[in-house]
Amino acid sequence: MTSSERRQAVRGAELRFSIPPDPRLSGRVRHELMAFAREQGITEGDLADFIGAIGEALANAIEHAHTNEPIEIAAWVIDDRLFASVQDHGVGFPLERTVTKTLPEAYAERGRGLPIMRHYCDVFSMRSVPGEGTRVTLGCHVHRATHTQAHHCA
Ligand SMILES: Nc1ncnc2c1ncn2[C@@H]1O[C@H](COP(=O)(O)OP(=O)(O)O)[C@@H](O)[C@H]1O
Ligand SMILES: [Mg+2]
Repeated sequence: MTSSERRQAVRGAELRFSIPPDPRLSGRVRHELMAFAREQGITEGDLADFIGAIGEALANAIEHAHTNEPIEIAAWVIDDRLFASVQDHGVGFPLERTVTKTLPEAYAERGRGLPIMRHYCDVFSMRSVPGEGTRVTLGCHVHRATHTQAHHCA
């Protein structure tokens, strides 16, 4: 059993796919994630901020990884939590600063992505190895058709 199969067996449904680092594919990624969430009975109103945060992780992988290696995207659900990860195999970067939850000024042109991920997600974890790549994992509480727990995102 591969580690991904084991994760699937333990956690239930899982979505996995990869795309080339092309910004024109961001819409497709959004679409795939929304479709997966719908299949899991997740209320769409819960998703906007989370999908936006994943979009920032994807934008970073496309813009900053500096590689043509595919970007791997995964999503999975545990009870009333939706998780997604974006992994690139690019240049990576040193994680020397704690990422702040404070959103940047409205007119800021750079530096928005990581604070947005941190602010809008209950789970934010990033692993980056210079020369190897970066993986961001995000998680958010959601409402599910079969679950009644409160939504804590944002
Ligand atoms: N996937 C990645 N690969 C390499 N560097 C990254 C990656 N994601 C983030 N970074 C680094 O972290 C910085 C901050 O990211 P972010 O907050 O999204 O701001 P911005 O993308 O506007 O620079 C980036 O400028 C880049 O140096
Ligand atoms: Mg960014």
